[in-house]
Amino acid sequence: MDLWHIRGGRRLDGVCCVQGSKNASLPILAASILSPSESELHNVPRLRDIDAALRILRHLGCEAEQRDNEVYINANGVTHSAIPHKLMLEMRSSVIFMGALLARCGEARLSPPGGCQLGKRPIDLHLSALRQLGAEIEESGGEILCRAKHLKGAEIQLPFPSVGATENLMLAATAAEGATVIRGAAREPEIAALGDYLKTMGCKISGAGTDTITVGEMSYVNHTEHSIIADRIVASTIACAAAAAGGDVELRDVEPAHFSTVLHFLKQAGCDIMCQNRSVRLRSDGNLRAVGEICTEPYPGFPTDAQPVLMAALLKARGRTLIRETIFENRFRQVPELLRLGADIELCGQCAEIRGVERLHGTVLNATDLRGGAAMLVAGLTAEGQTTVCDDGHIRRGYESFDARLRALGADICLD
Ligand code: UD1
Repeated sequence: MDLWHIRGGRRLDGVCCVQGSKNASLPILAASILSPSESELHNVPRLRDIDAALRILRHLGCEAEQRDNEVYINANGVTHSAIPHKLMLEMRSSVIFMGALLARCGEARLSPPGGCQLGKRPIDLHLSALRQLGAEIEESGGEILCRAKHLKGAEIQLPFPSVGATENLMLAATAAEGATVIRGAAREPEIAALGDYLKTMGCKISGAGTDTITVGEMSYVNHTEHSIIADRIVASTIACAAAAAGGDVELRDVEPAHFSTVLHFLKQAGCDIMCQNRSVRLRSDGNLRAVGEICTEPYPGFPTDAQPVLMAALLKARGRTLIRETIFENRFRQVPELLRLGADIELCGQCAEIRGVERLHGTVLNATDLRGGAAMLVAGLTAEGQTTVCDDGHIRRGYESFDARLRALGADICLD
């Protein structure tokens, strides 16, 4: 059990280099098995979910190693097409290996993925899209068996821009005969990053990052090098922490456009924000105002992953903020814990109304999920006295050396 102890009330000041993106790294790690080649990846964060993906790669027969933020993969010897249940359960992104295995081995045997319990999180869109490429899929006894002797390019319309389904489809389509056109695709920066990696692997692909992606066949390239983009949710979390605690923080190595919706609301809340090429400077006196209404949406809308941390930043903001969550049914799990700090939040279905309070007081909280846990750390920075967040390892699934990064900015935080 990780215990995060925070004494609130300190300003955050200084420069913070933002880690590489978990959600960009994981599909790229899955994509590395598409051809019998070597990949060198830079700026990969050291996280529990990355370790889980590397264990899956090794199980499939790859060499896969991480040294600091560099990952080396040799996918020459992929021998297995099945992922054991235990490895599948470790994270949500294990499901992306389905499309990659189908492309490389013509078969994938796996079970439904794990990850944060944010709602039902079905994979019907993934399966239906892969079927349209010619895969035969059987589901029985908690196991999913996908087979395709021959994948054939198709025009596929996604009914919802699912990030995972778009990724699975892009990966499987690299082995299809003829071009695949994905319409209604997810437009997240992590999709564009996957497209960039596939290009360096020799794939003809265009439109990744827009709602129409065209994937052609792959030609063989024996060595691929790629640098992972900055994590826009970690950047958002630190921005929310500095906004709420007060301070003057420069986020470096980031792409400001990737989290501009979060910055928009922080500006509206009273922060002074300056964006430059690859950096964002945020100044706040810690006295925020409520921002009206926030609605989570697929990118380029406001990200569901940043919803809990922005909520935490607004707990003391003057006035009322309404948050409408449209992506996941169960994404307010942090709320009962935040109430125990003295927050005033009313839940009504998929909406949460936050009424700013004068003060929060530290207590012991339980991290419910990855971003919910991060939200509790943000709230703890603004609470009086000590807050302890008891965490089953959720936060370290997505945040690299987060205690050290916050301490370097002046926070009083330690991880036991
Ligand atoms: C989602 C987020 C992504 C975030 C990730 C991690 C969106 C659109 N996606 O991606 O930005 O980084 O969580 O927290 O914000 N759905 C189905 N059937 C499917 C697939 C999805 O009904 O086959 C539904 C889900 O239940 C959910 C919504 O579509 O309500 C979003 O799904 P999707 O984008 O696929 O989720 P992730 O890939 O996990």
